[in-house]
Amino acid sequence: MAGRIPRHFIDDLLARTDIVELIDGYVPLKKAGRNYQACCPFHNEKSPSFSVSPDKQFYYCFGCGATGNAISFLMEYDKLEFVEAIEDLAQMYNLEVPREDSPGFGNKKPQFSRAEIASDHDLMEQVSRYFRHNLKHHKNGPKVIEYIKSRGLSGAVVQQFGIGYAPEEWDGALKTFGSNDVLRQQLLDLKVTTSNDNGRVYDFFRDRLMFPIRNKRGKVIGFGGRVLGDGTPKYLNSPETRIFHKGLELYGLFEAKQFNEKLDHVIVVEGYMDVVALAQAGIRNAVASLGTSTTPEHLQMLFRMVKKVVFCYDGDRAGFDAAWRALENGLAHLKDGIELTFTFLPEGEDPDTLVQKEGKDAFLQRLDNAKPFSQFFFEHLLGNIDITNDAGKTELVAQAKPLIEKIPSDFFRDLVLDKLASIVGRERGQLERYFTKPQQHRPQQKALKITPMRRAIGLLVQQPKLAKAIPLNNAYENIDMPGFDLFYGLQRTILTMENPTTAQLVELYRDEAVGPYISRLAAWDHQIESDELMEAEFKATVRFIEDEYLKQRAEQLLLKEKTEGMSAKERREYQLLLIALNNHKKPNA
Ligand code: UTP
Ligand code: MN
Repeated sequence: MAGRIPRHFIDDLLARTDIVELIDGYVPLKKAGRNYQACCPFHNEKSPSFSVSPDKQFYYCFGCGATGNAISFLMEYDKLEFVEAIEDLAQMYNLEVPREDSPGFGNKKPQFSRAEIASDHDLMEQVSRYFRHNLKHHKNGPKVIEYIKSRGLSGAVVQQFGIGYAPEEWDGALKTFGSNDVLRQQLLDLKVTTSNDNGRVYDFFRDRLMFPIRNKRGKVIGFGGRVLGDGTPKYLNSPETRIFHKGLELYGLFEAKQFNEKLDHVIVVEGYMDVVALAQAGIRNAVASLGTSTTPEHLQMLFRMVKKVVFCYDGDRAGFDAAWRALENGLAHLKDGIELTFTFLPEGEDPDTLVQKEGKDAFLQRLDNAKPFSQFFFEHLLGNIDITNDAGKTELVAQAKPLIEKIPSDFFRDLVLDKLASIVGRERGQLERYFTKPQQHRPQQKALKITPMRRAIGLLVQQPKLAKAIPLNNAYENIDMPGFDLFYGLQRTILTMENPTTAQLVELYRDEAVGPYISRLAAWDHQIESDELMEAEFKATVRFIEDEYLKQRAEQLLLKEKTEGMSAKERREYQLLLIALNNHKKPNA
């Protein structure tokens, strides 16, 4: 495993990032007062409740409660892991992400032979390079290249997709990379190797044509391996690992983004070879799910990224079923302004065979003639309903209802409702009474009740320089008051940092139990107009809390005096308490 990313680097990254500029690149923002606004990218809405604060370097949505800093935004929007989001931000500033040393790794630059590897992504990249290397240097290389040629692929396309060869030996990758225990474990974890019941460890992929699967950032996260010729299984895929989640990744998406300056149209096909063969034919925007059906996450990602998605499936039962599953999984993520169509290929053909047979233009023509979403929707439902009688019409409405109710987009909802009305011969208005509006993606959050302690913490998180407005008070011991530790911990932390932003503070608490609570306080609308008023409010709040504490503690000690008596130490504390309370009563103290 890679070493940790140093805290100061993350801090520095957030300090360099302008969250307004970052988010504006994904969701165009409009200025509104001190902040910027847009319709929330995380739930479907008509009027903007998503707000980005340049001061806090923080975003929040009043509608769905989404909050966070630049890192959270990338994680949420691009469906990235924490480390990936950091890498992504770092890339924008041409920064290398440093790692704290972790035992077992040197600082050598990895190269594919017997290197000590720094991270999972690096190791996978090296393994991928090793597979490519075998095309030229393994004794089976010529046979593999023969196969590649027989599939109609050029050297250029093979290179663009990083296609390689896993040798037939049982320990090719194991020998090359497993030079110590840590690496051997890492290879197992990433499923480059596997073990049998007797504990014998060997290469997972052997004698296969290898397709590296890259994530959206171009990092190799897994492989698909095809037998050369006949044999089963035809494809062997990396199982899920800590860096490979099939339901979130699409084969070919990174390459499509590389080939197209602006990728606004994507073709979803079924196989690795289809993606690559289409690229070979000059159609460079195909993606494939990875031996699973198309998941809601896939579709959400695509609908955010592009304007048009064409599903291209085999014209057999399996193809229809896969298309319908994709449609069902996409309903909840449909957005106004995207186009969604379905095309089914002649039996026995797939995009690979067809594009080779009929050429690029004819193939693209098919895609242009694809069925619009609503047509496929009703063709499928009408496949087993006879609507020449009322029972059938009722059945159609009943089957369509739960599906239509999932659609958050007004455009698609209207489209389908209109069509349904005309099919069953009813007025649109009559039908609409049966339907409910889709639920918001995330339930509305209950408003946070702002207690004095939350007010103090909230103001401090939102305006970190307030930490200097009050003394760092460590005179009180054993303070038994919820939030007190957090408040003073926060103040202490801020004083060690150089002008931290809200975003940086939120980041510090990301993995802590109080993280979500800090985020919500960072988003809380305090409605205080000026910095001066804010400081006054903050001081008064802290004063109030301290008073409360002092009074409570004084009462506690008095009670003790009446029962068992105070110790000498407690007596001193009691005297200090009285002095402090007295001071607080003086104006402007
Ligand atoms: P296909 O059987 O349609 O293969 O499987 P293909 O893509 O056309 O490949 P060629 O042309 O025969 O080489 C489609 C997809 O289903 C998954 C793979 O992702 C494949 O690309 N699959 C198929 C497997 O995971 N394992 C298999 O054994 C077969
Ligand atoms: Mn095929």
